[in-house]
Amino acid sequence: MSQRRLFVTTALPYANGAFHIGHIMEYIQADIWVRFQRMQGHEVHFVCADDAHGAPIMIAAEKAGITPQQFVANIAEGRKPYLEGFNIQFDNWHSTDAPENHELAQQIYLDLKANGLIETRVIEQFFDPEKNMFLPDRFIKGTCPKCGTEDQYGDNCENCGAVYSPTDLKNPYSALSGATPELKSSEHFFFKLSDPRCIAFLEKWTTSGAVQSEVLNKISEWIEPDEDGKPKMGDWDISRDAPYFGIEIPDAEGKYFYVWLDAPIGYLASLKNHFAKQNIDYDAFMADDTTEQYHFIGKDIITFHTLFWPAILHFSGRKVPNAVFVHGFLTINNGEKMSKSRGTGLDPLKYLNLDMNPEWLRYYLSAKLSGKNEDIDFNPDDFMQRVNSDLLGKFVNIISRSAGFISKRFDGQVSAEFGDGGNALLDRIKAAKPAIIQYYSEREYSKAMREVMALADQVNAYVDQHKPWEMAKDDSKIEALHQVCSALVNAFTHLARYLAPVLPTLTAKVEALTATSLGDWQSELAVTQIEPFKHLMQRVDAKQLDALFEPPAPKAEPKALPGGEAIADTISIDDFSKVDLRVAKIVNATLVDGADKLLQLTLDLGGETRNVFAGIRSAYQPESLIGKHTVMVANLAPRKMKFGLSEGMVLAAGPGGKELYILEPHEGAAPGMRIK
Ligand code: MSP
Ligand code: ZN
Repeated sequence: MSQRRLFVTTALPYANGAFHIGHIMEYIQADIWVRFQRMQGHEVHFVCADDAHGAPIMIAAEKAGITPQQFVANIAEGRKPYLEGFNIQFDNWHSTDAPENHELAQQIYLDLKANGLIETRVIEQFFDPEKNMFLPDRFIKGTCPKCGTEDQYGDNCENCGAVYSPTDLKNPYSALSGATPELKSSEHFFFKLSDPRCIAFLEKWTTSGAVQSEVLNKISEWIEPDEDGKPKMGDWDISRDAPYFGIEIPDAEGKYFYVWLDAPIGYLASLKNHFAKQNIDYDAFMADDTTEQYHFIGKDIITFHTLFWPAILHFSGRKVPNAVFVHGFLTINNGEKMSKSRGTGLDPLKYLNLDMNPEWLRYYLSAKLSGKNEDIDFNPDDFMQRVNSDLLGKFVNIISRSAGFISKRFDGQVSAEFGDGGNALLDRIKAAKPAIIQYYSEREYSKAMREVMALADQVNAYVDQHKPWEMAKDDSKIEALHQVCSALVNAFTHLARYLAPVLPTLTAKVEALTATSLGDWQSELAVTQIEPFKHLMQRVDAKQLDALFEPPAPKAEPKALPGGEAIADTISIDDFSKVDLRVAKIVNATLVDGADKLLQLTLDLGGETRNVFAGIRSAYQPESLIGKHTVMVANLAPRKMKFGLSEGMVLAAGPGGKELYILEPHEGAAPGMRIK
């Protein structure tokens, strides 16, 4: 077989949190495929990156008080233990905010523009006048226009399920500032997906075998013309207005690419960065028609990868993916929604910290994964059963039952004579290779595992038939014992090679034990001697699974911290003097209609009054406050809320709820006095 050159990716995870088990599943699926292809002698480049851009990450960074770059770097920092822990071997891990991606995204955009596929249009959108930014749908909240439930998101109602656009909400407000958003128009850039050229291309590409049939069923309705002759797929809005964490659109001040435009380009950027380090010519590799490009993704991001992404590549004059491999979702315990607090999630780091073998999970997932877009379920009992009964009981057990005799009785020497039964057994195992290769290449791992376990069953039947432990007691059968055990060691090593893409650590141990190399499936495999036998793999202990799914203990209040909270970073006296604190007299306090956490306070600053909404209702009756003195921040930027303008803030201490204590100065302090 001639050597193929493959470029393989997994979806780029959002850089807003640690990996969860769904990510790990995707990486394991792809890692197995990559290892398998390499074992067939092919050249594979396997890369990933953090998906750094977009409004949610920008806002999370702002909340954390750091730059988005720092925020993303912190997330990236935490990736290693997961990847190393589960034996996931990417050749490169990059970021969509890296220079290669800025450059590639801008060039691709210019190529699309030169091809007449970029158009600008003025659209109206909600704008937060306090934050001075256009609001993404999920940062607009308000009252559902259908059922009247308050505090619903801008795109759909969690109570009645209605789907609408943010402008349909009653009493909309910004989830960032509380301000009432204003409709404002802005020029946006569109990728003209509805262009007949795009439609024609996508019809062809999607039916070329590049997507699974069940995926094609899903997406074809986007491409096929409706009754009105137009496809459901409209043009795609690819721009966002500043402030935005993203890549600037060339010659368009204050305009950035929408994160989903530059995210898949990050695949190319990561490959380019990898090649630069390896001294491989990126342009030549991508220009080569025989280079194959594959993307592993989950079912939630199909449209981006099977419509937008191939069109972006094709119409910017680039190689298109040979295939997009879509997998379903991993659920835990029959699809219960994963939730950490309820203890139904499977925290990958906790798994590793409990000293659970990563190869148990790799095997278990393989035993369940098919090449289809189907969900799979992690079930603890099923996990125990498959690992202990199949992987260990059927497979690993073969070597435990034979290696000891070879070491002790035959000085580690493996015979080349297997007897009739032994030869027939080995022939059957070798004959399964083409089918197993086919299964792996189609990502039908569960079929590959089933095939290997069926072969292991035959090997175990052979053991039970010959009973080496009885032969060992009979001096006249010593030669036969040598042959049987030699057949078993060889059978085991062949099966180990079939499992090598799934079990890299076990493979290395088998290679050391049998003085073989299992990384090349083309080569003849014959074991001639073995090293002294050591246990290859432990069994799963039910206690480990109990511990894995035990809900995390509620975090104990760290007693060492004063007041339960760490002291903030040091500031200078200049920093402090920016805050204008004043003595204020509470001249009025009332409840606020529709806000069960707030009190509306009228504060006298000695001649000037301020209206302040304070979140202290859980601890104070309004009447009890009237006439008291307190302390307020007098120079805080006013904040527009649903209920009116809040012009400052009163100071209070305590964890919240009933335990909230507003400050009161010693007698003699008068309204308006500055606190220094
Ligand atoms: N950042 C985008 C992808 C950009 S690709 C150019 C994104 N990130 S994600 O972190 O939300 O998801 C990353 C991958 O994990 C996706 O392929 C997604 O389908 C997959 N999974 C997320 N939850 C999953 C499960 N529960 N099970 C299996 N895969 C899951 O989407
Ligand atoms: Zn509703």
